[in-house]
Amino acid sequence: MYTQAMSVGPQDAAAKVKSPEDVAREAAFEARIDAGDFIEAKDWMPEHYRKTLVRQISQHAHSEIVGMLPEGNWISRAPTLKRKAILLAKVQDEGGHGLYLYSAAETLGTSRDQMLDALHSGKAKYSSIFNYPTTSWADIGVVGWLVDGAAIMNQVPLCRCSYAPYARAMIRVCREESFHQRQGYESLLVMMREGNAAQKSMVQDAVNRWWWPSLMMFGPADKDSPNSEQSIRWGIKRITNDQLRQKFVDATVPQAELLGITLPDPDLKWNEARGEYDFGAIDWAEFWRVVGGDGPCNRERLAARVKAWDDGAWVREAALAHARKQTIKKEQAA
Ligand code: 3HC
Repeated sequence: MYTQAMSVGPQDAAAKVKSPEDVAREAAFEARIDAGDFIEAKDWMPEHYRKTLVRQISQHAHSEIVGMLPEGNWISRAPTLKRKAILLAKVQDEGGHGLYLYSAAETLGTSRDQMLDALHSGKAKYSSIFNYPTTSWADIGVVGWLVDGAAIMNQVPLCRCSYAPYARAMIRVCREESFHQRQGYESLLVMMREGNAAQKSMVQDAVNRWWWPSLMMFGPADKDSPNSEQSIRWGIKRITNDQLRQKFVDATVPQAELLGITLPDPDLKWNEARGEYDFGAIDWAEFWRVVGGDGPCNRERLAARVKAWDDGAWVREAALAHARKQTIKKEQAA
């Protein structure tokens, strides 16, 4: 049995009528997903599955690369050589995560140039969190603690994503993220335990600015998420946006108490009946404004990426010229 098109034009009809072979292949794919199979790049997959993965993985890669900017801003101003070395290593890791993820996306048939064009033109998204400024050294500790902490919460389930190349990239990324989160939290512990009053209030100010945008990293509420249902069905997403957000809040509140800072949410309180924290309403107008390009640093971040791309043109041209020369040499030697 195959789906009969509704009354539409001839070209639409061709697009909507599925051959018995297509229907059989989709059924086989769904059965593989239900069986918990991992899909490799060479396996057949529905076009929508492929497109969903290109969208999510490329935007994840963009997030890693753009995410280098707010922290990179403090490398030259780190308070000690140790903190500078740690921050350098972390920012370098993020660049590596971006490259793994671009490579994982390329296994789906898209190209690096296509993905970067989409980023530079403003068409592709990256995580809203990176459109906020890092205005003090305490921000660097808070970004490690909260932003990388939220990223780990969201990325660990992706290690079981049904698309195998993405899952494999995530396994290595998550190992490095744990270092990112720990170094951030440790630097805040030092400031809160050994710092003076000004340094302690610097930490509290940074937490006040980064708490709510960190909760927004998990995406819109499930009821407002157009992609979640299908992504859960296909095993791309293993846990919903709201469930991950709740896990993050439940894990982070005790850490905040240990630090001795106050999270900026008067509605935050333990719900004994549910065994989790109740928390206040997220400002979704702010979220969509920032996602839509009107956050505090969106223009600056995109301009920095476009400038880096333009400034790097000569390196790409030199590498391509060298590769062409090598090819000619090999052909002449053959
Ligand atoms: N920032 C920007 N856009 C966001 C967003 C955010 N925080 N949350 C959701 N969106 C976008 C989605 O991309 C989607 O738009 P699109 O269809 O045009 O792509 C729309 O809002 C609706 O959201 P959905 O929940 O329906 O979309 P998804 O099912 O894709 O879920 C997601 C969103 C949870 C971010 C999911 O894409 C995901 O898990 N991505 C992989 C992880 C990731 O990208 N993390 C970002 C941070 S990386 C990082 O922090 C690096 C670390 O080293 C610091």
